[in-house]
Amino acid sequence: MLAGRDIITIEDMSVQDIAEVLETAARFEQEGYPHDALEGVVVGSLFFEPSTRTRLSFETAVKRLGGEVSGFSGTDGTSVAKGESFEDTIRIVNGYADAIIVRHPEAGSALTAAEVADVPVINAGDGPADHPTQTLLDLYAIQRTQGTLDGLVVAMVGDLKHGRVPHSLAKALSHFPHTKQVWVAPESLRMPNDVRSAVLGAGVEVEEVEDMASIIPNVDVLYMTRVQAERFTSQAEYELVKDVYVLQPKMLDSAKENMRVMHALPRRYEIPESVDSSPHAYYFEQARGGVPVRAALLAAILT
Ligand code: NCD
Repeated sequence: MLAGRDIITIEDMSVQDIAEVLETAARFEQEGYPHDALEGVVVGSLFFEPSTRTRLSFETAVKRLGGEVSGFSGTDGTSVAKGESFEDTIRIVNGYADAIIVRHPEAGSALTAAEVADVPVINAGDGPADHPTQTLLDLYAIQRTQGTLDGLVVAMVGDLKHGRVPHSLAKALSHFPHTKQVWVAPESLRMPNDVRSAVLGAGVEVEEVEDMASIIPNVDVLYMTRVQAERFTSQAEYELVKDVYVLQPKMLDSAKENMRVMHALPRRYEIPESVDSSPHAYYFEQARGGVPVRAALLAAILT
């Protein structure tokens, strides 16, 4: 069903597509990777913006499946530094690779790439807009820890305005009618209207609050996010909100036993290291799921 497709936003995937990827990822983890699934395949990995987990887990996934990667991390050594356009860069890699993974600071860039390229394009984060493959691994983590994606209470905390991670996650969770979303943000970092309309339009329950501590006892997943310093036009405005939510270990005393704290990482102020030893902390295990989930997606698109 996913063969040959572009993945630009999480809305490009149906619930069945998502379920297929999560099932395949679990199978890869249990039974091992099919080492020749991508034999002879070259994947273009174009990271115009910094990345650790997304790039390395994608590239590891390609290698685990027997494929090869050709690409760059940062544009310094490329013709982008000579002024080559984004579109021309994509046209060239389209002629070299069997699929393109692209991260870029501008919203809409992955869609532009898909319009220019014939090979499948996977969005690895386009500015503040979307991050669909992060959402797949987030759903994998939620399903693993909660046993389900429906009937939950999932809180997203922090920079819901600029965070492509909560945008994609909120839209994906709106497929699950009995999962309530709690959006925790200060006035200046609230969820954008396009995401709000999409989620409310799907008919799911959303609560918007500013206080984090009071919602902790009621949630199954506490999804913390980094305040996106690089998206602010004013440093002073960033300074005002950069540590608006800081999760302290004692705040977790009131949490449900099976509640899990998640985060796409990197973290800055919002989760101090003192939380890491809590049985609720799940962000490092969550990140580990990036390889099987991205391998499952690549196998579905490319085989
Ligand atoms: C996120 C991103 O790049 O949007 N990181 C990631 O992909 N794991 C979150 C962030 O940078 O805050």
